[in-house]
Amino acid sequence: MSERNNEVLLNVEHLKMYFPITKGLVIQRTVGYVKAVDDISLFIRKGETLGLVGESGCGKSTTGRAILQLYKPTAGHVYFREDGKMVDLTTLKRRELQPMRRRMQIIFQDPYASLNPRMTVGGIVGEPLEVHHIASGKEKLERVKELLDLVGLNPYFINRYPHEFSGGQRQRIGVARALAINPEFIVCDEPISALDVSIQAQIINLLEGLQERLGLTYLFIAHDLAVVRHISDRVAVMYLGKLVETADRDELYEHPLHPYTQALLSAAPIPDPVIEEKRQRIILEGDVPTPINPPKGCNFSTRCPRVMDVCREVEPEMKEVAPGHWVACHLFD
Ligand SMILES: Nc1ncnc2c1ncn2[C@@H]1O[C@H](COP(=O)(O)OP(=O)(O)OP(=O)(O)O)[C@@H](O)[C@H]1O
Ligand SMILES: [Mg+2]
Repeated sequence: MSERNNEVLLNVEHLKMYFPITKGLVIQRTVGYVKAVDDISLFIRKGETLGLVGESGCGKSTTGRAILQLYKPTAGHVYFREDGKMVDLTTLKRRELQPMRRRMQIIFQDPYASLNPRMTVGGIVGEPLEVHHIASGKEKLERVKELLDLVGLNPYFINRYPHEFSGGQRQRIGVARALAINPEFIVCDEPISALDVSIQAQIINLLEGLQERLGLTYLFIAHDLAVVRHISDRVAVMYLGKLVETADRDELYEHPLHPYTQALLSAAPIPDPVIEEKRQRIILEGDVPTPINPPKGCNFSTRCPRVMDVCREVEPEMKEVAPGHWVACHLFD
């Protein structure tokens, strides 16, 4: 976990990622956009974990990918600290971006789909070392063995294939691959959602241990609120392409302010049976609107139990209502 006063490593300003919707087989026309990420601002301090939560399809993965420049953002800026300066990744040319790419990595949700089945573990983990011209030959082999050891896999397995491993072990391979080039920042995109509950904790412990040992900074994407509470220093809540609330972990879980955050938390079971019995569920009406045609005003206005007239007209801005606690809701105007 992080120290409170650490410097900011990553600063995202007004990030937008719109995917065009095209029509026509021969001449393609753009007939609209999927507004997957629609004006998001956030920062992450060095060594901390920012949890990003929200329902399926709200734009969490797209946010992670746009930050890493795996997509070219439609608008906005992504600043990454480099020698004491904040460098805007969105303005870098391909060649300038390359050295920055070495400093950030992603761990995917599905360790079955994300590992090449025809490559050995040694090949998979060592590939980034070749791509970034860091090591080859015997040196690469040594580094791969070191990495396998680091993530709790027997280096003896270096010549085996992904299918010979369990889900948890495969995710360890994914982690070793992400760590190969010594990144500072890792987007963990639901890294345990596809795993058995019994092994989820092992991977969480591994990620936490690595963070402490290597001083890593995480953007941790998940829809499981209990996991996010466990691993995050701060939490950002996302709904339909926008952030609705950001706060320190305990503040967010103990004093959720946005009606969406409150509904999300009310839906999560509490492991204490006494508290669980008293838990009041807030049931949201209706479905999440489509990001192709989001509502006017506040995106949550169509489902909000506390909606007011202004919510259907004016989009709420993020406001700091307590130190470090930001919320975008007209109830706090
Ligand atoms: N490459 C793409 N082209 C077009 N639309 C996309 C693309 N990637 C994502 N989308 C759309 O953008 C929206 C956000 O998707 P995204 O995968 O970021 O959500 P998510 O929060 O990660 O969801 P989940 O929890 O299911 O992983 C969805 O409506 C999705 O269909
Ligand atoms: Mg996703």
